[in-house]
Amino acid sequence: MNFRLLNKASYDAAYSKSIAQSDDFWAEIAAYYHWETNWNSVQQCNMKTAHFSWFEGGKTNICFNAVDRHLKERSNEIAYIFEPNNPEEATTIISYQKLHDEVCRYANLLKLFNVKKGDRVCIYLPMIPELVYAVLACARIGAVHSVVFAGFSSQSLAARIQDCEAKLIITADGSFRGAKSVNLKAIADEAIQTCPSIVKSLIVRRTGEKIELGSKDIDVHDVLPKLSTNCEITWMDAEDPLFILYTSGSTGKPKGMLHTTGGYMVYTGYTFKNVFAYETGDIYWCTADIGWITGHSYIVYGPLLNGATSVLFEGTPTFPDAGRFWNVIDKHKVTQFYTAPTAIRSLAKESLEFVTKYRMDSLKVIGSVGEPINEEAWQWYNEHIGKKKCPIVDTWWQTETGGILISPLPNITELIPTYATKPLPGIQPVLLDEHKNEIEAQSGTGNLCIKRAWPSIARTIYGDHQRYIDTYFSAYPGYYFTGDGALRDENGNYRITGRVDDVIIVSGHNLGTAPIEDAINEHPLVAESAIVGFPHDIKGNALYGFVTLKNENPNEVELKKEINQYIADAIGPIAKLDKIQFTSGLPKTRSGKIMRRILRKIAEGDFSNFGDISTLLNPEIVEEIKNGKQ
Ligand code: PRX
Repeated sequence: MNFRLLNKASYDAAYSKSIAQSDDFWAEIAAYYHWETNWNSVQQCNMKTAHFSWFEGGKTNICFNAVDRHLKERSNEIAYIFEPNNPEEATTIISYQKLHDEVCRYANLLKLFNVKKGDRVCIYLPMIPELVYAVLACARIGAVHSVVFAGFSSQSLAARIQDCEAKLIITADGSFRGAKSVNLKAIADEAIQTCPSIVKSLIVRRTGEKIELGSKDIDVHDVLPKLSTNCEITWMDAEDPLFILYTSGSTGKPKGMLHTTGGYMVYTGYTFKNVFAYETGDIYWCTADIGWITGHSYIVYGPLLNGATSVLFEGTPTFPDAGRFWNVIDKHKVTQFYTAPTAIRSLAKESLEFVTKYRMDSLKVIGSVGEPINEEAWQWYNEHIGKKKCPIVDTWWQTETGGILISPLPNITELIPTYATKPLPGIQPVLLDEHKNEIEAQSGTGNLCIKRAWPSIARTIYGDHQRYIDTYFSAYPGYYFTGDGALRDENGNYRITGRVDDVIIVSGHNLGTAPIEDAINEHPLVAESAIVGFPHDIKGNALYGFVTLKNENPNEVELKKEINQYIADAIGPIAKLDKIQFTSGLPKTRSGKIMRRILRKIAEGDFSNFGDISTLLNPEIVEEIKNGKQ
């Protein structure tokens, strides 16, 4: 597809056109795809009511565009190179033809169990090819996939299934994670007990461990071989739902971000091609998990829409040793490598010998996503992995945005360490000040908002449009509010400074404070808790919990362990606290609101200036908490 921007002039021209003649700009890009029926209007967007419609009247299918469309000329080209957790296990090569055949089998499997257009299917699988097949099978027949990251606990899984009332779950016997394996089926079984909407649980075999099949369970390997490798496409309206993906919110309930078909397809295909400068013959590798948006948009849809070849990696960065990423780059001659700052920081801490053993001379572009990349990590990545010859694309975006909104374009736009730099065509970022005014000056600092809609903006929070409006469109009426703070330099480059709300990004994972506090407060000895983030060398941020107890005198060491177990059960191990401090109270305003600003400063070890604490109901508590800092 030839919408690749080749130089600064073409980026500038594309950007100007995308703003001045937005409809024409996107119509030209959309025309690269197969549309069974053409659209009537390119966009109808309203930032006040948060109603967004792209390519209305058009009918298409993203699975057709990602898979079938390539078969005529490229059926034997490789879609995925599957690199298993254990490097001694053989890699599997999946051609576009093979991908098509397996996707069709999975689609027929779904149909066998009566899954219809619009039904929700929960996918709880490790990073194995079957995960991609299941996702695309849903898209092929118009079912709405809801992939849940396989590191989430059974309670989290259950909450997500209940919220979207999934009819079916696709899971596995287990998953391999480094030297360990996790019994996914047991977690799924526990979840399903509280999920009456689930009629069948389809089990993929991965670890081969012994499992008991219950009344709802189907071993997919008993059925799949009998199913056809062809399955008719269900043509979808451009605005038909494609998937739901849950992300943390400031209340306990996760937000099911709903993405639809046409706009998401057009935007992810376009941004993949341009941000990674992907050309035929390249081998692209994104290390994210498909359970997150990065995997949806830049392991599954974006690359496949471009007929790309990707590495699909099941393992972890440190198994069997800290050279695994670099080994895989050499093994498969990876040309584009896309990972998270937390992985870079943790590998940079290891001996350089893990890196220098490998040549990595195939690399052309390296990328970063999920959290701000600090200067030190950027320089290390640039020097040791990119060998100072690979542009680093620091891509800023969100589950809600569907695709990358701000990023350098390799060899086209300027690179500045720690800056995501310039908006992609179609994206109009603005900074808003505390009076809700746009900062007009070229440089400045403020809350990052987006001024106009783009094709892959989430359409709603599943089942709760009011919450969607309240969360993203009411703080700054007329704008999409990202929840991030940013600064802009005099050349219009953006640097994302971090969240300005109650979301904390730990190792690149979005964690809301409220769901964690809810989990802790379930403990019978806990009266109240407040979670804040504090800087951490590897994770970016770690979690610090301030906990008040109900008049008991517990064994603190044991209680800390129990609190973390409550969190692991409710959310997953990723949300465990690094530090827990027991305190006799929390700093509160007269209206009862916890003053997190103070707790944040204490957790960071910054006792210099707590600002105005005169509005506190209990100012004396600040001293106690300060003295007890962990
Ligand atoms: O705070 C920003 C941070 O991650 C948040 C979005 O998280 P999530 O929905 O899980 O999606 C992550 C993958 C796209 C953002 O609000 N973030 C993401 N990328 C960057 C970033 N912060 C700074 N720089 C980035 N490149």
